[in-house]
Parts: sequence; C-alpha cells; structure tokens
Amino acid sequence: RPGWPGIIQAYPSRVPIPPNAKVITLGEGNTPLLPAPHLSELTGCTVYLKVEGLNPTGSFKDRGMTVAITHALANGLEAVICASTGNTSASASAYAARAGMTSAVLVPRGKIALGKLAQAVAHGARILQIDGNFDDCLELAQKTAAEYPVGLVNSVNPVRLIGQKTAAWEICDVLGRAPDIHCLPVGNAGNITAYWRGYAEYAQDGLVDSTPRMFGFQAAGAAPLVLGEPVANPETIATAIRVGSPASWAGAVTARDESGGLFDSATDEQILDAYRLLSTREGVFVEPSSATSIAGLLKTSADGRLPKGSVVVCTVTGHGLKDPDTALRGLVEVEPVPVDATAVASALDLR
Ligand code: F0G
Repeated sequence: RPGWPGIIQAYPSRVPIPPNAKVITLGEGNTPLLPAPHLSELTGCTVYLKVEGLNPTGSFKDRGMTVAITHALANGLEAVICASTGNTSASASAYAARAGMTSAVLVPRGKIALGKLAQAVAHGARILQIDGNFDDCLELAQKTAAEYPVGLVNSVNPVRLIGQKTAAWEICDVLGRAPDIHCLPVGNAGNITAYWRGYAEYAQDGLVDSTPRMFGFQAAGAAPLVLGEPVANPETIATAIRVGSPASWAGAVTARDESGGLFDSATDEQILDAYRLLSTREGVFVEPSSATSIAGLLKTSADGRLPKGSVVVCTVTGHGLKDPDTALRGLVEVEPVPVDATAVASALDLR
C-alpha cells in the first residue's frame, strides 16, 4: 500500500497514544501475507506466511517498538533500555535514534546473532554484554528501569503488545476472515499473547466471526511452556528464542487455552530442516527462530493434529540476514572460477 503510515496511524482507534504525542515511526507493518504453495502441498492445508522480516529493522519487534518509543518520548524520557536476544535491541536502538533518544541494550554474551549486533552498533546503542542468559538480562533491565530515569521497552511494557496486535488485524483485513490455525515461534511469549488479544478483539467487535487456534512452538532446549516449568539453562541454535522463563507465560497459556490451541517443541535439527525448506522451496529466507513455526507446522501435520483443509498462517518473525553465521554453516568455500565462459559452463555442468 503506497503511503502506508506505520501501524499507529493505520489503526489509530485501536493503538492509542498520549494526546499530542509525536508519532515515532519507520513505516512498520503492512508486511506480506504470502501464500506458501510448497507447505500447502505438504500439509493439505492453505498455508500463508506472515513475513515479519520485512519490517524496517527486519523483525516483528518494530510493531511494538513504534508504540513504546512514541510513549517514552511523550512521557519526557530521554533514554530507553531493554534486554534482548537481539531483535528487540535492534528495533529499540533504531526507533530511539529516530526519536533523538539514547538507548542501552543488555544482551547475553556471545549468544546474539551477528546481524542484530551490527544493527545496535549502527544505531548508536550502548551495548552491554551480560555474563548470563536473556532471563538474567531482563531482570537487570527491569531493576535498572525501576530505579533510574530510563524507560523499559521490553514487552513487559504493556504498550509493546498493543502494537504487536496489529499483525493479527492485518491478517484478518487481508483474508477477510480469521485463519483456522495460527502458528508462532515462542520465546518470551509476548507475541503469541499479542496475536491472541488482537484476534479476540476483532472477533469481539464483529469484524471476524471466528478466532484461530493458536499453535505456539518452542525450541526443544528452551521449552518452558511445553515442560510446564522454567528452564534454568536454555540452549538452542535459535538464539532469538533462547528464553528459559518467559515474561508473558500467563498470556501464552491464556492464548492456548481460550483458542483451543497447543504448545509443542521442535529440535534444533527440525528447526534447521524447516529453515532450509523455507529458503530453498518457498524462497523465503528467515532466521532460525522463525523457522520454528514451520517445524511445528510440519510436526503437527505429520502426527495428525493439523486438520487437512485448514487455513493456516505461520508468522516468520525475523529476516534470514540477521544470522549470517547459521546461513553459512557447513559452507567450506565458494568455488573460485577463472574469467572464462567455458570454465563457468564446466563448473555448472552445462553442456
Ligand atoms: N522470533 C524472533 C525472531 C524473535 O526475536 C523472538 C523474540 C521471537 C520469535 C519470540 O517472540 O519473545 O514474543 O515469544 N525475541 C526477543 C528479543 C526475546 O529479545 O528480541 P516472543
């Protein structure tokens, strides 16, 4: 849509901001709802991808961040802080830069994908690598924001989740109905909470006549919601969702229970298989965490929990370029070839 104004001005009555607030936007939202023919064939469903990697900083976090930073600026704050596995920090530092604010980001040491770190550096964030995991970072960020004049922009800040509801509304607006099933990767559990609230709100207001079953998928090494208890030392290649004690635990359980949905996990191997399938068969390059919703889709399809004929939306949450290391894993060398057409043809086995 040309002239798309960003999610606050696209849904002004549903995403309230303080009176006279200056809207801080980078044009987030209005991401493609892309048909996925190969996944549809594999599952016997009509599968769509909500491609959130096409937001301004390459992840869905921008939907919440435009709202959080708009509020923070209107409230007179000059600095914001967040804990992050990478995407929240990329988004916070970009929107803070746009607002003329400073940002500080607490990230787990050595466990943040390179592209995300590059973004925080580019946007001028103060980056602190914490000797701990995301859960430790979040606790520290919360304590700091409680005691010092700096605004917390993690999803425990309720306006973040209001912004993230817009993805559910966009899907309904485009489909003209709600999907039957919605698959999401789950880490700190804010997004599944926000989507469910968004769908429920649209149904309540009579804009759709049903709501989807919410399927939330975690990485097997970081699956507190599946296990029903926190995980002390979460581990997974999907670093974005390496979370052991999700802040929005209760919201995610509500989403599952009220929607008749489920939680399940996928192994790193299943996640990487789905990651490669998406990029090689659908042409959609996502980061590993995002492929968790596809791994879950395929798992529930294989074991019969995904009814054939369903309209399914899978959110793919972040762009593949966020994590070049994973993309290049196993690549030994790009073959050198002389400047010679015969050599190119021979390297490609063309004859
Ligand atoms: N996918 C990606 C790419 C993410 O970055 C995250 C969360 C999720 C999925 C899970 O969403 O936390 O709402 O359940 N990333 C956070 C961060 C933790 O710090 O960027 P969630």
